[in-house]
Amino acid sequence: MIRVGILTSGGDCQGLNAAIRGVGKALYLKFGNEVSIYGIRDGYRGLIENDTYLMKPADFSGIINLGGTILGTSRTPFKMLNSGTDEANAKIENMKKTYKKLALDCLVILGGNGTHKTANLLRKEGLNLVTLPKTIDNDLWGTDITFGFHSAVAVAANVLDSIHTTATSHGRVFVVEVMGHKAGWMTLYAGIAGSANAILLPEIPYNIDVFADMIKERTKRGKRFSIIAVAEGALDQDEAKLSKKEFKAKRAAETQYPSIAYRIAHDLEERTGHETRVAVPGHIQRGGAPVAYDRLLSTRFGAAAAELIAEKNYGRMVAIVKNKLTSVPLEEVAGKLKTVPTDFEVIQTARDIGISFGDR
Ligand code: F6P
Repeated sequence: MIRVGILTSGGDCQGLNAAIRGVGKALYLKFGNEVSIYGIRDGYRGLIENDTYLMKPADFSGIINLGGTILGTSRTPFKMLNSGTDEANAKIENMKKTYKKLALDCLVILGGNGTHKTANLLRKEGLNLVTLPKTIDNDLWGTDITFGFHSAVAVAANVLDSIHTTATSHGRVFVVEVMGHKAGWMTLYAGIAGSANAILLPEIPYNIDVFADMIKERTKRGKRFSIIAVAEGALDQDEAKLSKKEFKAKRAAETQYPSIAYRIAHDLEERTGHETRVAVPGHIQRGGAPVAYDRLLSTRFGAAAAELIAEKNYGRMVAIVKNKLTSVPLEEVAGKLKTVPTDFEVIQTARDIGISFGDR
């Protein structure tokens, strides 16, 4: 008999259910009646509070195209769990208790950066784990691609498509803010696919005058509109010189701007006199059905997780490295952010077709 727990933690994304399905179907096929799979509700919250249920094979059917997660999710900050306080230690002990109570052989954890830090902590506490890389941000170290990313990029690209028609009608500048936390993957991919005129990434600090000049130049050439895709983590060249603390204080003082896109829109309007609007699709980017690419990727990751369990090869995250399905040790993943390298070929592609990054 083999007993497996499964949980989804952190921000949800498209492809989570497809991955859960992949794990379940592959486990049942490998172990038949010899496997029991326990669903853990709302991520680490369910593990801490022993909120679990025995899943049935039917739970894994008909969900490949379903957005969100059938298990529910929550954010349990790693900093809090790692703080060494009595409260934090009690939570860790409770997670271990639930694991023992269910007599698990392995816990399958689907999550992004924060989730992997906690997973690594649990690994050090002696739990057998296999993890799957999920996040729309694609910023998880150790894998070239995470599931959820391409679905979210498709949503953001559609937003940019739609903005084009209204921007053209009114002859306006539009600043579209794309999710991605501290990494620019989503903005880069959606910006190119959605034919933005400029792309602002956290990895390439911008100079607002470069964009203002670009807009003036486009107007001279008879272009009625301009569209700028801005990563939510974008920052300008002066901000890039600040310490983390100084940067936080500066942004906190800019209370007139709900987010970076609004500041950029204000600064551009002031410099160009061109009517400027902001569009923030926000969590819509995490919603809806996964694209076919993510359904496939999630299924591959799910089946690979089941294989690791069958091999008793624990403490690993399944990954795609150089187009190959593989796995990497959790300790190599935890706590590391994968940002867009500034010499990334796709950035050059964008530059080659005249997209500005605001750095020159
Ligand atoms: O990590 C996924 C993500 O959507 C980021 O792109 C974004 O910064 C963050 O989560 C939003 O978090 P929340 O859903 O907690 O508002």
